[in-house]
Parts: sequence; structure tokens; C-alpha cells
Amino acid sequence: MTESARLLDRLLDLEQRLRHAEDRKVGFPGWSNPFPPELLPFLSHELNNYGDVHQDPVFGWHTKDLERELVTFLATLFGAGPDGWGYVTSGGAEGVMYGLWRARTLLPKARLYHSASAHPSVTRVAGLLQLETVTVPVTGSGAMDHVALEHLLRLAPGASAIVLATIGTTLTEAVDDVPHIRRALDRAGVTDHYIHADAAFAGLPLALASRTPAALPFGVHDRGVDSLSISGHKFLGAPFPCGVVISSSAPPDEIENLAGSLCGAGDLVGSSRSGHAALLLWFHIRRLGLEGLRAQAAYGRDVAQLAVRHLRAIGWDAWRSHPQALTVAFPTPPPAVLEQWPMPAVGGTSHIVCTPGVTPERIHRFVAAMAAATRTREEAPCSHPAP
Ligand SMILES: Cc1ncc(COP(=O)(O)O)c(C=O)c1O
Repeated sequence: MTESARLLDRLLDLEQRLRHAEDRKVGFPGWSNPFPPELLPFLSHELNNYGDVHQDPVFGWHTKDLERELVTFLATLFGAGPDGWGYVTSGGAEGVMYGLWRARTLLPKARLYHSASAHPSVTRVAGLLQLETVTVPVTGSGAMDHVALEHLLRLAPGASAIVLATIGTTLTEAVDDVPHIRRALDRAGVTDHYIHADAAFAGLPLALASRTPAALPFGVHDRGVDSLSISGHKFLGAPFPCGVVISSSAPPDEIENLAGSLCGAGDLVGSSRSGHAALLLWFHIRRLGLEGLRAQAAYGRDVAQLAVRHLRAIGWDAWRSHPQALTVAFPTPPPAVLEQWPMPAVGGTSHIVCTPGVTPERIHRFVAAMAAATRTREEAPCSHPAP
């Protein structure tokens, strides 16, 4: 066998593995939107959106014009208004890092408050930024306990605070209540504060369910949050990790004046950024439009409802943490199911996430596997109250 034949073999093996894995992808929020053929020619071009989205590089191989349109679309959707600012990141975690970096720049002495259900990237970023953190307990739904937050804030009178609100926790898609967080800050007398919304997966479907962006409780406005981040490879189906961060205004001078700024790169976490990610996300939102994206979210919700019904019908408890949730949580399935259908298992709870790529047919196969694996059990656990 020649070297090139061996190489081809490896690629065929890889493709087969991916097709097999795709067929059982329900346990993680990514999905593979078929790559648009219109965009294939651009894979042969370097696309480097180096630096600030509002400043074009001196070279031509970038998609910053499309990135600006994408940011404007999302800033409007999340209620940020005409001063909204943002950029395409390498993923949700970079969005969190940007939000917390900005917060620490504005409030250098502030502690970071995040819920016990926050994504692990939050504590990693806090460590990198050397932020003192306070973990706030969660309620039964997995959302931040705002009464506990107020109590913890009162323990540091006169101090400033950064709050990381999780809009859709990783396990159950529980949503921290931003109006209640703001009330806790007010009641505790915290006047200097910054709120970043980590809305990696649920931010978009929730925003799309609202017809009034300016009233979105976790929107980027003066009654909501200061910045917000999403992933591009979750609800939007990009086949590679990426994301977008949106803030209420351009970066503060302290960040903008950082040394080494070429094409405004001093005010971002990275320097070279993926122009392909901006192109793909821009194309997706332009092709579907607001109504198409809304239909995509509604489809995911319908499939999630179907999954709850079918799991309960075989005697396996299942629930969603709120009526818009695309995530269906349930007691962790038996090992025979987990081997075939990979999904997280945390403290006896697992989930499936009904991204737009998860079809009713896939749900039927998953539920059939659950039924087959549990048929011999006398009784499936029903540990969680029905919502
Ligand atoms: C709530 C939440 N935040 C942040 C992240 C990290 O996002 P990414 O994997 O895009 O960096 C995730 C990933 O699952 C998440 O669920």
C-alpha cells in the first residue's frame, strides 16, 4: 500500500467513526449543520480577522465586514442597542474570559460571584485573572440562589462585585435570574458592579423566544447585564468551536490603551481570529433570518417535549428546567445505554440536548435503547418531581 493510499484509508476510517458518532449525538449541545457548499471555496483562503472588529487590517484576507454585520445582528437580538460592541471568539470560554477581563479592568478590587452550577471555565478564567471568587449555592432547579447571593454580598460591605450569571447551566439549562441578581446587589448596597451572562448554549434560543429584545431579562442593557457570551458551535451548529461576545459599549480606555496594539488587537483576548468562523456564523444567520432561527429554536423545543413524553412513557422520569428549555434532564441511564449514547452523568443526573440537529427519529432510537436496557429492571427511578 502506498503512503497516499494509507493516508486515504485513515481519512475514510475517521469519516466512518464520525458518521457513527453523529448518529448517537444527543448528550452534548453541538450538532453538525451540513457545511454550506457556497462556502467551500473560502476554505482555500486564509481568513484572518486580526484585531478589533471595527478596524480592518491592512491586508485583504479577512471577513470583518461580515463579522460586524453578525455582531450588529446579535447585539440587536440581545437588546444592546446602537452602542453594542462585540467580536467572534474561539468559543464560549473565551467569551467568559473577555467579560471577566473587562469587569476586572473596570473594578480591579471586585470579587467574582458565580453559582455552584457555573461552567468550570469560569473558575479557570478567574484563576488566570487572579480574581477572588465566591461560590453562591443554587436552588433545586440549579439556578443561582439570589437570597444566598444577597447574604454573601452583605458580608463585604462597601465592596464592588462582579457577578457571572449562567443563562442555561451545562447540566439542566437552569437560568440565573438577572433581575433578582440586580435586586440582590441593590439590597446589599453594592453600587459598583458588573454582570456578565454566560449564555453559551441557551442564550440564543431564549432570546429568539422573546419578541422584545429590550425587555430580555438577561439582555445587554441597563436593566440586564454588561456583557454576554455565546458559543457558535452549539445552537448555531458551526462544525468547529467558535463563539461571540457582546457588550453594551466599546472596550474601556484601560483595555484599549494596552501596549502592542496593532490594528486594535490590544483590546481583545486573541490577536489572529478566525475569519472562517465569522463567515460561517454570518452566513447561517443571513440565510435563516430571524424567523428561520426562531423556527429552529421552536423545533428544538418540540423535540425536547417529545423526548420528555417518550421517556416518561417507558417509566423513566424526565424533566425540563423551564418551558423554553431544549435540554431534557433525567436520572442517569444504565451503563449499557451510556456506552452507546455518550452523555454527562453528574450526581446521578444526565441529559440530552435537543439542538436543531437532533431529530425525532434519533430520540425514538435513544428511547428504544433505554426501554431495552431497563426492561429487566423492576422499576425505573422516579426521583424528581414532575415540573
Ligand atoms: C454554560 C456554559 N458555559 C461555557 C461553556 C464553554 O463553552 P465552549 O465550549 O464554547 O468554550 C459551556 C460548554 O458547554 C457551557 O455549557
